[in-house]
Amino acid sequence: MSILVTGGAGFIGSNFVLDWLRQSDETVVNLDLLSYAGNLENLKSLDGDARHVFVQGDICDHALIDKLLAEHRPRALVHFAAESHVDRSISGPAAFMRTNVEGTFTLLEAARAYWTAMDDAAKAAFRFHHVSTDEVYGSLKPCDPPFAETNPYEPNSPYSASKAASDHLVRAWHHTYGLPVVTTNCSNNYGPYHFPEKLIPLMIVNALAAKPLPVYGDGQQIRDWLYVTDHCAAIRAVLAGGRLGETYNIGGWNEMANIDIVKTVCALLDEFRPDPAGPYARLITYVKDRPGHDRRYAIDARKIEQELGWRPAETFATGIRKTVQWYLDHPEWVSRVQSGAYRDWVKQQYAAP
Ligand code: NAD
Ligand code: DAU
Repeated sequence: MSILVTGGAGFIGSNFVLDWLRQSDETVVNLDLLSYAGNLENLKSLDGDARHVFVQGDICDHALIDKLLAEHRPRALVHFAAESHVDRSISGPAAFMRTNVEGTFTLLEAARAYWTAMDDAAKAAFRFHHVSTDEVYGSLKPCDPPFAETNPYEPNSPYSASKAASDHLVRAWHHTYGLPVVTTNCSNNYGPYHFPEKLIPLMIVNALAAKPLPVYGDGQQIRDWLYVTDHCAAIRAVLAGGRLGETYNIGGWNEMANIDIVKTVCALLDEFRPDPAGPYARLITYVKDRPGHDRRYAIDARKIEQELGWRPAETFATGIRKTVQWYLDHPEWVSRVQSGAYRDWVKQQYAAP
């Protein structure tokens, strides 16, 4: 038995692969293009482990997906691969349309052909799990209730529009062809191996380098934050027991304003690694806002809790302590990501013999 994971060298995908193989001996075939955000060093602990089969490739490559499905006969496909950074989608949306929309379409078509040819038992067991985001629902006003699965889609950035498009494709492939899909829409993750272009890891690495901590606009934008291994556990729960064609919102019941996130990170660094120059919060710098910046996201995660019994194990207080400590304990990972050296390692490690 095996599962096919896309984007398993990225932040959430690599946490998912590590988490999966801590709990199961079922092989993970990991298809990842190794874009700037894909880092095989995240999976170094699996070197030589036959349960992890890494394939460098593009989810838009139909022939490659067909070949992988035929060769490994996975019982599920868990689709993480995406362009994921909102700021990059504003400066260069084309890559988001290609990977997030065309890539998801390509996977759906390949999965459909593979699934159609299966016997009835295998057909009934197969799952296409699409990993998506709360950003598809748009932006909430301060007193709006949190996003439920029934909220209308109102994506506001090129990133969230591309993810919304991919969600709609997944829904249509279930409705029209009967492909056994589940979709999860999760809030902001944080934790180990988070690429330091995103808020929390950027604040940690900038603070340690005594660089400004750039807070967009007034810093009062609200996000819901979930520790990454809680997201992995939620995906496992939905993959195992989610109803076909359904979507499940995943969140941490933890809404916080960006400025409070940044101040929390600063306070933890003050505790763990005090800077003789003064408190890290001195580095906070308000900068120009993100264009079209969504003001508030919040998740109503009652459906997954009531149907599947999932709740986050970490609170923000416990998760953020672990996260800051992880970055302090892994300076080499940080410096190799910042210099791009991890990509040289990949070239050397995976060069043709
Ligand atoms: P990431 O940017 O860290 O990782 C994305 C991975 O996909 C990388 O390893 C990259 O190499 C790979 N990839 C990109 N284009 C590819 C292609 N064409 N073919 C194959 N692989 C390709 O992203 P992440 O933060 O780990 O997010 C993973 C998924 O979870 C995404 O679908 C994202 O939309 C979703 N999500 C993320 C968050 C979050 O807070 N990070 C929250 C909710 C949902
Ligand atoms: O909500 C889920 C989404 O969370 C995922 O779908 C995305 O893939 C993921 O990147 C994340 O999107 P955000 O835009 O919320 O994450 P980011 O870390 O880029 O920003 C978090 C908040 O912090 C956001 O309001 C913008 C702000 N910010 C971000 C950066 C990088 C700053 O104020 N300064 C910064 O330098």
